[in-house]
Formats: sequence, C-alpha cells, structure tokens
Amino acid sequence: MARTVRRPARLRGTLHVPGDKSISHRAALFGALATGTTRVRRFLAAEDCLSTLACLRSLGIEWQLEEESRGVATLALTGAGLHGLQEPDNVLDVGNSGTTLRLLAGILAGQPFISVLTGDDSLRTRPVDRVIEPLRQMGAQLSARDDDSLPPLTIRGGPLRGIRYRPPVASAQVKSAVLLAGLFAEGETVVEEPQPTRDHTERMLRSMGVDIETEAASTDGPPAAGGIRIRPPAELAPLDLRVPGDISTAAFWLVAAAAHPDAELTLTDVGINPARSGVLNALSQMGASIDIGEERTAGEEPVADITVRSSRLRGIELGGELVLRMMDELPALAVAAAVAEGKTVVRDAQELRVKETDRIALLTEQLQRLGVAIAERPDGFEIEGGARPGSLHGERVNGGGDHRLAMALAVAGLLAEGDTTVEDEASVMVSYPGFWEDLEQLGTA
Ligand code: S3P
Repeated sequence: MARTVRRPARLRGTLHVPGDKSISHRAALFGALATGTTRVRRFLAAEDCLSTLACLRSLGIEWQLEEESRGVATLALTGAGLHGLQEPDNVLDVGNSGTTLRLLAGILAGQPFISVLTGDDSLRTRPVDRVIEPLRQMGAQLSARDDDSLPPLTIRGGPLRGIRYRPPVASAQVKSAVLLAGLFAEGETVVEEPQPTRDHTERMLRSMGVDIETEAASTDGPPAAGGIRIRPPAELAPLDLRVPGDISTAAFWLVAAAAHPDAELTLTDVGINPARSGVLNALSQMGASIDIGEERTAGEEPVADITVRSSRLRGIELGGELVLRMMDELPALAVAAAVAEGKTVVRDAQELRVKETDRIALLTEQLQRLGVAIAERPDGFEIEGGARPGSLHGERVNGGGDHRLAMALAVAGLLAEGDTTVEDEASVMVSYPGFWEDLEQLGTA
C-alpha cells in the first residue's frame, strides 16, 4: 500500500509522540529479569517492541498490554527473576528489531539452555559478530551464518565470567549486551566505549538496584569514555515507569516544522537525554527556532516539551560525537539540509550502512528522485541545499521497508511541489504506528 503526501498550507498543532523505542525494549527485557511486577506507561506498542514481548513470552514471561491509542500502551509484566527464564521450544523471531537481537543475545548468553535468534529479511543482514566476540570471551558458545557474522544466531548459554571489553565500534546495543551478560557473570564486567553511546541501560539498571558505575576516563592511550562497570546483583527490583516520548520520532516533526514556511508545532514530554538529543543541537546550528521547555524527569530520563517554528535554515558540517548522538535522526536531518541554504556535509556516519537498510545508499537514491542534490560519501553524505527551480518535487519513492526512511521521505513530501507517494507505507509500524494519522491531523489542523 502507498500513501500520498502533499505540502499543506500550514503545519500547526501539539503532538504527544509515542514512547521511546530504546527505553520500551529495555523496560520489557529488564522487567522480565526482575523479581515482581513491572508496570510501564506510554510503552511503545509498535512492531519492534511487540517482537521483544513475543520473544519474552516464548521464554516463559507473562505480560498484558493495554493500548490507549495507536502505539501507546500500558504494559504489565511479571518478572521471572534473574534465573527464571525457560528454554524456548522454537526459534525466537525478533522481526525487524536489531535492539531485540543484540540485547537478548546478552541475556541468553547467561541462561543454561540453547536459543536461536532470527528475524526478517532486513534483520538477517545485520552484523552479529560484534556481540558474538565479547559474549564468547565471557564463556558462552555462539555461532551464526556466514562465518559467524549474520543471523540466525545460536546461543548455548552457561556460566559466564566477567571481562573488560573495548568494542571496536561505538554501539549502545553491544555495550548493553555485554552489561546484561555481566548480570549473570562471576566477578565484574567493564565495557570501555570508544565513544559514549546512549546510556538508557545504565540508568534503568541502576534504578533497579544494580551496582553499575562509570570509571573516570583514562588519560593515557586513545581518547575514550570511562569504562562502565557492572557487578552481578542478587536480584533486580521491578520497574514502575513512564517512558519519555521518543526523540527519534519527534525528529521528523522537528524537521517538518523548521523547514516548512508556515509552521509551529509543540511536542510534549520528549526524552532529551544528551546521548540522544544531537538532532536538537544540529537543527539549532542550522538556524532552527527551537524552544525547549522546563526539564522534568520520566523514570531516570530527562524530558521536556519542545516547540519548533518555521525557520531559515543554513547548511552545516557535522561529524564525530554529534553524529553519534543523532545517528537514527540523520535521514530526517537530510531533509532539512535539502531545503537549507548552502551545503551540508555528514561525516563519521558509516554505521548507517548496517542499520535496517544501507541508509546512506537508499537515502541518497530516494532523495535524488525528489530532486535533492545529494551525493554519497563512504561515511555519510553531502547535500547542496536551497530551492532551485525544479528541486524538491513530488515523485514515487520507496524506503525499502525501512521505517525511518519512509518517514523522512514523507516529511520531504510535506515540503515538495506536487504529490509525493511513499510506497512502503506500512513500514512505519515498526516504530510509529500513528505516523500517517498524526501527519494528516497536523497538516489539516
Ligand atoms: C539502539 C542503539 C543504536 C540505535 C538503535 C537503537 C539501542 O544502535 O541506532 O536504533 O536501543 O540501543 P547502536 O547499537 O549502533 O548504538
């Protein structure tokens, strides 16, 4: 099914975006290991987190989900304790979700049984060697297709020992997998990140009573964030939390409103964890008018209301830590860059090539169809922005089943001349089931 988007005369309103995907996954997975009942409000009831819940059910976990509106639900889940998961009697299907794959691998490495993780066509192209390597060092047996690099991934868990590990790529999923295995290991486990990544795992485990701390950054050797050290707990306390709005979802509306000539949008209760909110910094550097309201907390996470208005955007150069703090938002940012004045260059984003699709290649190809002057770099892209005659015009586009590309292309459609038809409409279900309804409501409000 396809969806057609046109440029609305005005873009106005207030949106309560659905709950954060990373935090929803973690709340379900960690809650399953806790002793007692976990309650999660504003749980993201989208395909990715439903895959996590389905895997947990196969591991013997009971839960109920009450959906309040599209994609927004309350989860009640009965934890089995650290040693209560049961051997699944079938393959575990993580669907499209790389986070489920990597985080569950860490948990399953510490279980006294065999499990097999697989997923959809996209998922089976995502690297697993990055979790196999450290989990083997800890004592688990893992193997995977294509010389231990691609799912399906087989895990024979068992007694683990703590390690000190420095991942070759900065990845919150790899860090989390190792820390989760550390819950079951003998002795302490330390992850030395090459660069700091999102810290939702650390914040949430700490709130569950786990002894987890960040060592002081070392002064010799290559620059690195301080190691994150975890000691195995006797048990985990259950969670009672409200998930912040997902900044990765909010990013589409931030870009749409900043780039549209007559717009003002307010997004309420959005997570602004500094490790995730690079998109706010990048858009501000581009000249976007963004007001961040009073900071509050939801669970262990900072949240705020964000208001964004039509702005004159200019191109910027970005790389390094800023890019790491907004990796998932780069497709949306590319759309802002397309209408900004001057050139935008994105570097250090090679990880985009191993996301749900090769986002560098596909984003370039599809934005070119809409008339954007974008060129691939091995580690990112360059966009010559500005409205030239015929630039940004409607076309048929296809995000290759990648939710974030489909939404970025739809936002481009809100800014383009003529009709833009997004062919893979249903892919938004992975992270934002109400996307098309919200888009319709904002454009016509
Ligand atoms: C995620 C971490 C990021 C991000 C992904 C979700 C997480 O990947 O791109 O969408 O929930 O831990 P990395 O593991 O590459 O940091």
